[in-house]
Amino acid sequence: MDDPDRYAYPHRVLHWLVALVLLFSLASGLTLGFLGFEGAVERLGDSWTNLLYTAHKTFGVLILGLMIARVITRLLFVVPLHEPPLHPFQRILSTSVHHLLYLALLAMPVLGWTATASGDFPVQFLHWNLPGLIGENEALSEQLFRWHGRLGWTILGLVLLHIAGALFHWLIKRDGVMKRMSLF
Ligand code: HEM
Ligand code: HEM
Repeated sequence: MDDPDRYAYPHRVLHWLVALVLLFSLASGLTLGFLGFEGAVERLGDSWTNLLYTAHKTFGVLILGLMIARVITRLLFVVPLHEPPLHPFQRILSTSVHHLLYLALLAMPVLGWTATASGDFPVQFLHWNLPGLIGENEALSEQLFRWHGRLGWTILGLVLLHIAGALFHWLIKRDGVMKRMSLF
């Protein structure tokens, strides 16, 4: 478990949990974005639409919690050195994508939370309603939802780039990069 060539075990667990929950967040969010509220009610009915909104908000709030835990494990444990060292171009590219993912995944739930609350909608986590943290403001809510949507596409792009990089190391270069993050 304490392998110096790999990220600390709790950090690896958080990496894969975030990846899994993000998949559900993006899938549910994009469905809501494409259908819109009325479209969702028309196609799915009231109860499935409500469930989809609640599920999406729950996944989003969960990501915020997981990402905060992840920042802590990232700061707490030593990051393993690459052996052999990465080409400087690959190092700069991958580190930039990693940092942008951290920023985006912390900003995204905050945008969703504040957009929802300022639109006077409930911020749901499972069957609880969390505090809104911000007053009602229709114009601000629209603006925040617009940025929530834009950032969603940015995250999708960054994740695809990141997965392409991981597959390149795993299947083509066949170096130890994948092992650094794998659970087994
Ligand atoms: C990392 C976490 C999150 C991701 C990746 C995510 C992703 C998305 C995406 C891609 C959309 C579609 C946007 C569009 O096309 O216009 C969306 C919509 C939405 N998100 Fe999130 N979201 C997250 C967190 C949250 C949170 C925490 C909340 C509220 C508590 C939330 C509330 C909403 C709502 C209400 C919509 C529907 C907006 C509309 O109907 O225009 N999201 N989300
Ligand atoms: C199939 C999906 C994925 C694969 C195969 C994968 C693979 C990897 C690998 C091999 C590393 C180690 C890279 C290194 O140390 O040089 C890594 C690190 C990282 N991954 Fe992923 N990943 C996936 C999904 C994701 C997703 C969805 C996110 C974002 C939510 C993400 C964010 C990160 C970040 C930020 C790091 C840097 C390590 C850290 O500081 O946490 N990964 N990933």
